[in-house]
Amino acid sequence: MSNTIFRSLITWLLVAGPFWGRLCAQMYRPSAAVEDRVTALLDKMSLEEKIGQLTLYTTDWGSTGPTIREGYKNDIRSGACGNLFNSHTVSFVRELQRIAVEETRLKIPLLFGFDVIHGYKTIFPIPLGESASWDLEAIERSARVAATEATAAGLNWTFAPMVDVCRDPRWGRVMEGAGEDTYLGCRIAEARTRGFQGKKLGDTDAMLACVKHFAAYGAPIAGRDYNSVDMSERYFREYYLPPYEAAIRAGAATVMTSFNDYDGVPATGNKYLLTDILRKEWGFKGFVVTDYTSINEMVNHGVVADEKAAGELAMNAGVDMDMQGAVYQRFMLQSYKDGKIAMPLINDAVRRVLRLKIELGLFEDPYKYCDETREKNSLLSAEHRAAARDVSRKSIVLLKNEGGILPLKKTQKIALIGPLADNKSELIGNWNGAGNANDCVSVLEGLRAKAPAEITTEAGSDFMAEKSDGLANALALAEKADVVVAVVGETAMMSGEACARGEIGLPAAQEALVMALIKTGKPVVVVLMNGRPLAFPAIAESAGAIVESWWLGTEAGNAIADVLFGDYNPSGKLPMSFPRSVGQVPVFYNEKSTGRPFDPNSKWTSKYIDMPNSPQWPFGFGLSYTTFSISEPKPEKTTFKKGEPLKVSVTVSNTGARDGEEVVQLYVHDLVGSVTRPVKELKGFQKVMLKAGESRTLQFTLTEKDLSFYRRDMSFGTEPGDFEIMAGGNSADLKKVRVTMTE
Ligand code: GLC
Repeated sequence: MSNTIFRSLITWLLVAGPFWGRLCAQMYRPSAAVEDRVTALLDKMSLEEKIGQLTLYTTDWGSTGPTIREGYKNDIRSGACGNLFNSHTVSFVRELQRIAVEETRLKIPLLFGFDVIHGYKTIFPIPLGESASWDLEAIERSARVAATEATAAGLNWTFAPMVDVCRDPRWGRVMEGAGEDTYLGCRIAEARTRGFQGKKLGDTDAMLACVKHFAAYGAPIAGRDYNSVDMSERYFREYYLPPYEAAIRAGAATVMTSFNDYDGVPATGNKYLLTDILRKEWGFKGFVVTDYTSINEMVNHGVVADEKAAGELAMNAGVDMDMQGAVYQRFMLQSYKDGKIAMPLINDAVRRVLRLKIELGLFEDPYKYCDETREKNSLLSAEHRAAARDVSRKSIVLLKNEGGILPLKKTQKIALIGPLADNKSELIGNWNGAGNANDCVSVLEGLRAKAPAEITTEAGSDFMAEKSDGLANALALAEKADVVVAVVGETAMMSGEACARGEIGLPAAQEALVMALIKTGKPVVVVLMNGRPLAFPAIAESAGAIVESWWLGTEAGNAIADVLFGDYNPSGKLPMSFPRSVGQVPVFYNEKSTGRPFDPNSKWTSKYIDMPNSPQWPFGFGLSYTTFSISEPKPEKTTFKKGEPLKVSVTVSNTGARDGEEVVQLYVHDLVGSVTRPVKELKGFQKVMLKAGESRTLQFTLTEKDLSFYRRDMSFGTEPGDFEIMAGGNSADLKKVRVTMTE
């Protein structure tokens, strides 16, 4: 074990141990009885059958990567494939499971995996959007509904939660995660893991979670998907690593490796990640699956000469299961004979897979997830739609509302304009599971359900191009209306995997449409639908109201109408900074001070000469139809001992005329450290509903772990000295107080 690991482990245990102790109870731990059953089965297995359990193939129902391998049913029959993905519905799963449990020698049931990322059939907001709710219960409930529907359709494993921290909106997969912040990312990773795995593995509505993409996949150079990741270990451990650990300590049963390299070694062959950190430092007992053909791709990375060597590197690094690459299938037998892969390693990998098949109860009842009646009653149920509408409303962020244009009145004449105004196909976003766009409520339908009379509509432009007469028709409708609602943004497939963008503005045709509508002088409400932060400074400057609605899924139109008409007071907060320009990227709230922090009165400071340093809207920002005031944080004491938790209270008041929710955020700045420290870091938040005029005092506790960091010698812990504790409704407008930690 390297010195860094050892030091980190010891200080981690001393400092973070008690904190994690409360959570360790949730961490997946196999029982002795399960181990005994695995041992008995392992003893009967041939090496070929063992390799089959380490093999995962997609069926012909869908492909999420470069190739589809033919003949998977014969692979099941021969025992060469023990796990499938991209196949679902009770009838199809039953057909495939029957082959495994009736036509193979040992009758080992199959795992059925699928990308249930933000819903199975009832589609919820994309994860980045749902993260804007800052409502951990709603987020957990969303994953719970997804698991309930997915397991009703035969599935027992989801390739989620994706917990990759990302500070770069050029990266298309930012839509799948929880944004730029480590602390928020950890809490959401825990909530999603709990939601997918339910009360306990083995329940028919529980499925294996798969925390991905391990690790630091969200930091590709230039924001280009699959690109190299290069950062210091300190930076990695401070900002990118914690959410994976949080998911695992919340019980995540499986981990997926990422496509990128880390410190020069592809994650899929990186023993430091997969064995030293995952197994030795964290004690992870589940199994590791690769991403789609990521073993094979290590040849492209240039760390091995051929696929057989890639399989040996992966297996010896700690990869248990090969997704779609067929590398273990084709070469492991020979690698074993060549002495490149030892049998104990193979046995350990097979053990980890069989453990979880036993934990799921698949040996007792391989068809436990195959109940047609449950499938029929569960998918798109009224209860599930209601849960989707609830979290969708909570995910909407009000970015601007000048002169109280919003909420709309149901008596107003509304001109609903834009390519997304009367659209369903985009609303389910990317990674949309088994969702069907036709099940969605469009914005037009949502608005008309509330105000049937006075809504006229016109696309005005296509997504990427002007529409002949579109602009003229749109302007004509605007002239006759009291207010214009422009629904614009990206197509759902402009974000997600392999969808990096070099520019992050609105498509030009849509930008032109909105600016023309603003020029009419009518009040214009811009409703955005997008999978990443966008930069649109002209509209930000001149639109009357701006609402960020991400891709909200099946209940999008109803949720947006709830907010626009004020039947729900918007409460969302940005989980990621919105840049003024792609030139600012990466722009994030928890930056370092630098030796020349920005000073408007001095030339020689860290700044741009053509725009402010600050983003258009900062992390944690979101408005309401009411107003709130948040007090200075009141620490229980201004001097406290190293190791002691510090209690802090904050009073929040609803100073407006209507009830609403506020997310009170608590930030910390360690003023002097043995290494440079961020000017602020989120260390707590509480979302509260307050009636008009109501005040409430909230209690926070800063633990020693909250104030710890990787010090100059890479040990994890605190350093006595001064701290600023800050509180506010976003990461920029904060009130602060100074406290001192003593030895
Ligand atoms: C894809 C994605 C991964 C997904 C997997 C299976 O390439 O990177 O997130 O779970 O393949 O579809």
